Amino acid sequence: MTDLAPRKGMSETEIARTVDAVLAEATLSEKVGMMSGRGFFEAFKADGRLWGARPYRAGGGVERLNVPPLWFTDGPRGVARGQSTCFPCTMARGATFDADLEHRIGQAMGIEIRAQGCTLSGAVCINLLRHPAWGRAQETYGEDPHLLGAMGAALGTGLQTHNVIATVKHFALNSMENARFKVDVTADERTLHEIYLPHFKHCLDAGVASVMSAYNKLNGEYCGQNRHLLTTILREEWGFAGFVHSDWVFGVYKPYGASAGLDVENPEPMVFGEKLVAQVEGGSIEPQVIDQACRRILATQYRFACAEDPLPDYPVDLVACEAHVALALEAAEKSAVLLENDGVLPLDRARVRKLAVLGRLAALENTGDFGSSRVRPPYVVTALEGLRRHLGEGAILTGDEADLDAAKAAAAQADAVVVVVGYTAKEEGEFIPGDISLGQEDTQASKDTIEAQKQVAGRNEPRGGDRVDLRLPDDQVELILAAAASGKPVVVVIVAGSAGLVEEWRERASAILQTFYAGMEGGTALARLLFGEVAPSGKLPFTVARDPGDYPFFDRDADRIEYGYWHGYAKFEAEGIEPRYAFGHGLSYARFGYRALTARRAGDRIEVSVAVRNDGRVAADEVVQLYVGFPGTISPRARKSLKAFARVGLGPGETKVVRLAVPLDGLRYRDPATRGWKLEPGEHRLIVARSAADPLPLVATVSL
Ligand code: BGC
Repeated sequence: MTDLAPRKGMSETEIARTVDAVLAEATLSEKVGMMSGRGFFEAFKADGRLWGARPYRAGGGVERLNVPPLWFTDGPRGVARGQSTCFPCTMARGATFDADLEHRIGQAMGIEIRAQGCTLSGAVCINLLRHPAWGRAQETYGEDPHLLGAMGAALGTGLQTHNVIATVKHFALNSMENARFKVDVTADERTLHEIYLPHFKHCLDAGVASVMSAYNKLNGEYCGQNRHLLTTILREEWGFAGFVHSDWVFGVYKPYGASAGLDVENPEPMVFGEKLVAQVEGGSIEPQVIDQACRRILATQYRFACAEDPLPDYPVDLVACEAHVALALEAAEKSAVLLENDGVLPLDRARVRKLAVLGRLAALENTGDFGSSRVRPPYVVTALEGLRRHLGEGAILTGDEADLDAAKAAAAQADAVVVVVGYTAKEEGEFIPGDISLGQEDTQASKDTIEAQKQVAGRNEPRGGDRVDLRLPDDQVELILAAAASGKPVVVVIVAGSAGLVEEWRERASAILQTFYAGMEGGTALARLLFGEVAPSGKLPFTVARDPGDYPFFDRDADRIEYGYWHGYAKFEAEGIEPRYAFGHGLSYARFGYRALTARRAGDRIEVSVAVRNDGRVAADEVVQLYVGFPGTISPRARKSLKAFARVGLGPGETKVVRLAVPLDGLRYRDPATRGWKLEPGEHRLIVARSAADPLPLVATVSL
């Protein structure tokens, strides 16, 4: 057997020579073999349909030449295999505005991936939250392209530290769930390049090495075979040199997907494989298309496989090890967003001798949906368990929606009440339909596919999908009102992947804390936050409306939908709508003062500095948010956009100077006529604000 296996320490020249040798030696069918996953259906069946029971072959691999395949595992809230660390969901991590933490989480995931035999990770999901009903909102970082790009790049490069190839998904405009297999999303040139794509480019520029195409269509063509997206934009305009693989089943429909720029069909050769071989042999697809795809796969694969590892080895006991679990706790503490507080928080342990913990979600191991991103950690500390451990068994009274009288009685006996409300995998999450019918051939393979898709979520388990209601379920609202009727202070804890509307009950709550799906240590973090061992510091990565009609049009069953230019805080601002809670909002137990804002152009960027002082009595983190306001000569254009952020920790009375930089490239708008980027000449405002709707920001100007 010819041995062309990658070896640690191979130089770039050796790698290039080896890749050439593989291409010279491999037959057409071996090359096309590298262009798809293989064995998924059989493995999935054999494993009792347990998603993540083993690594999935996702392209690459020529046994005869000793070329290994790529082994895929999913994310993004941890490694979807074995008993891995379950971090807070991506949206929670978006609320941390902490790219350094996200990078460390990526490194931890990278270690756990390597320890479980995989080399390709689907953890980096950065689709933009256009509407809070999106079922997979929890898998992404929020509504803002800059935040999405910065956090996705941090996670992806963190994963890649341990020579795991990170794939950024789903390329592109996959911001709705139930209709994802069929919906044709239309977007114009400016919307596409300014709103829905910049975060992908941000991740790829940072070095993320692979891309997963989306299921949906973009402007009339499925993303997995969309030449404009996969070749014109990704390769020709952005210069991306890595490989693109499809989403899992029904990610590509025609062999011409290969010519359009798709390198790997996952998880089985339903469209590539023999059909693609036949097309090449019949002359309708050029052999260079195949060589080019294989070269991209091999070059990426060998670059990672030959790089030295930071650790001498990756034993399985690194999975969910103490250090990674501590990271999950840190993330849970930094992600919770304090939406309201009339002064009841932090709870005083000396005064709260009895605490009522109400709501069926309080005792539920509720770490997120049951789709492809599901992680099965060794344990989960629920909200109830966390508070019980903190206060002692005897201090806790319980009750839930099923018996309002009992819940009321518990509240009446307590000194304070915590009500845990929100959603589960039933109300939101990945939607795996049982009767996918997209006009594909009725082959056994496609029947197997449908069966496999049905089973990813597990039969009889919650269905998830796009949320049908942005409110809380009625019985939860009743529970909050019943708790409030006790006259005791009520702290409402919201568990949700994105925005939940609070209008019906907000005024009855003394405090509201959104914890998202907070991961395996969520309950521990909750107790520490509520009792002031750590101050809340998360900021909303999306806008919470007063009225659902304030968000863009959303139709979960749409065949076609236009993603317009406006969404999120830019839309609220442009239309003069006051949100309930603005993007970037989040209270603390400390107060922060800002002063001495400076801004100046330095070459191809603007440098900003601002002094932040903790005027409170407790140590706390603050997230400094820098928005840029544009001159206003171009329409449509957001009044301002987030362009930089930094998290800073400050002791009581402490001041730090925070420095931020904004590259001018990030301030340009897309000119549809030339398909190029232009700076709007004139005065740009550098706005340091506590949220996108801060009435009293600090503002400096720079003329460009
Ligand atoms: C999801 C992807 C995921 C893939 C493999 C698909 O259903 O859309 O996000 O990576 O499954 O798990």
